[in-house]
Amino acid sequence: MSREPSRITQVCTLLLTSATRHRLYGRGHRLTQEAVQELMGHLRFELTDEGTLRIAVSGEELIYREHRIDASTGPTYGLLRRLTDKGIGFLEIRRGVTRDEIESFCTALADAQSKVLRASEHIQIGTAAIADLSKRADHPELLRVRNLGGERNDPVTEEALLVQGLALRVREDYAVQARDLKDIVLSLLSQMAHQGNIFLNLAEVRDHNLFTYLHTCNVATLSMGFGLALGLEGNTAHDLGTAALLHDMGKNFIPQAVLDKAGPLTSEEWSLIQEHPLRGAEMLMRQDGVSHLAVTVALEHHMHHDGVGGYPKTHYTPCLQSQLIAIADTFDALFGKRSYHAKFDVLDALEILQVHSGSIYNPQLVDEFSRFMNANIERFEFSPD
Ligand SMILES: [Fe+2]
Ligand SMILES: [Fe+2]
Repeated sequence: MSREPSRITQVCTLLLTSATRHRLYGRGHRLTQEAVQELMGHLRFELTDEGTLRIAVSGEELIYREHRIDASTGPTYGLLRRLTDKGIGFLEIRRGVTRDEIESFCTALADAQSKVLRASEHIQIGTAAIADLSKRADHPELLRVRNLGGERNDPVTEEALLVQGLALRVREDYAVQARDLKDIVLSLLSQMAHQGNIFLNLAEVRDHNLFTYLHTCNVATLSMGFGLALGLEGNTAHDLGTAALLHDMGKNFIPQAVLDKAGPLTSEEWSLIQEHPLRGAEMLMRQDGVSHLAVTVALEHHMHHDGVGGYPKTHYTPCLQSQLIAIADTFDALFGKRSYHAKFDVLDALEILQVHSGSIYNPQLVDEFSRFMNANIERFEFSPD
């Protein structure tokens, strides 16, 4: 099989990572410089044979060499969106491109406010009509894993089994045991404190049946780790983790066949999915010992930061904890179908959050989350796939 699509995806990831780090950390920062260094290395390799790297935008695809590459999600989507936002339909990078040219290009690419992207000697750009991208990847959280098979070796399997038990109970008699939740969250927190690295606690998804529950534990771990990094006190982080564990309880009311459906959903099925926040919140409201926060997060975790999009349809901005958990939720959903062991996948998932920053997600929280995950990448040794 041709390697071009994955090679160009890597270039898109590195371009976007460099752009994001220019904005988050500034030009001279070590993390920015490392990203640029990696990008320059890849470009040098790409430019060895042909001397030019040309990427054109065509509808929802990028054209690279003779390949049409799907750009409806991931880093290709990120680049396509950044380019089309600035009216660019064609990008050409030539052999001899300097670090200075790349840094100026990345700085301009990351600046969402400015429509200006200037060409330079070795970076040429062409204009294009701005495409309507508003409908794209509106619900990245819905990306789900299909059976991946293989051995499972998850650090949080026990917690996931407890959440699974909790969910079964909800399905049978609509009851949540607040005491069980406390134990799960404490266990996740102590693992985090013990290992000091969020990635080591996040589970790889191999088992379809446990997927939802591992996802839930991952979202709780990510939310608490991020919350603590933001300066939350232990108790508040604990409450956040509990709310995260319960955020998708409403999915227990959706038929399994709909949750597991591999193909596109019918409008009826989509309506069912959209009911899960309300169903979950209604159920949790009736439970003893479940916090107001958990009810609120269950209701709001698919609402958009801008108060317009998402579901259920409302016209207010969700609370900050819901916005935070929505970010952890999407990050883990994007990863669920990939692996926590590949650095590129971390960067891709962060890039998707960046693309929707300001509309679906709170831009300050996305920036902070990117810094938080970047710091964790630094301390984590990724094993090759
Ligand atoms: Fe959900
Ligand atoms: Fe979720």
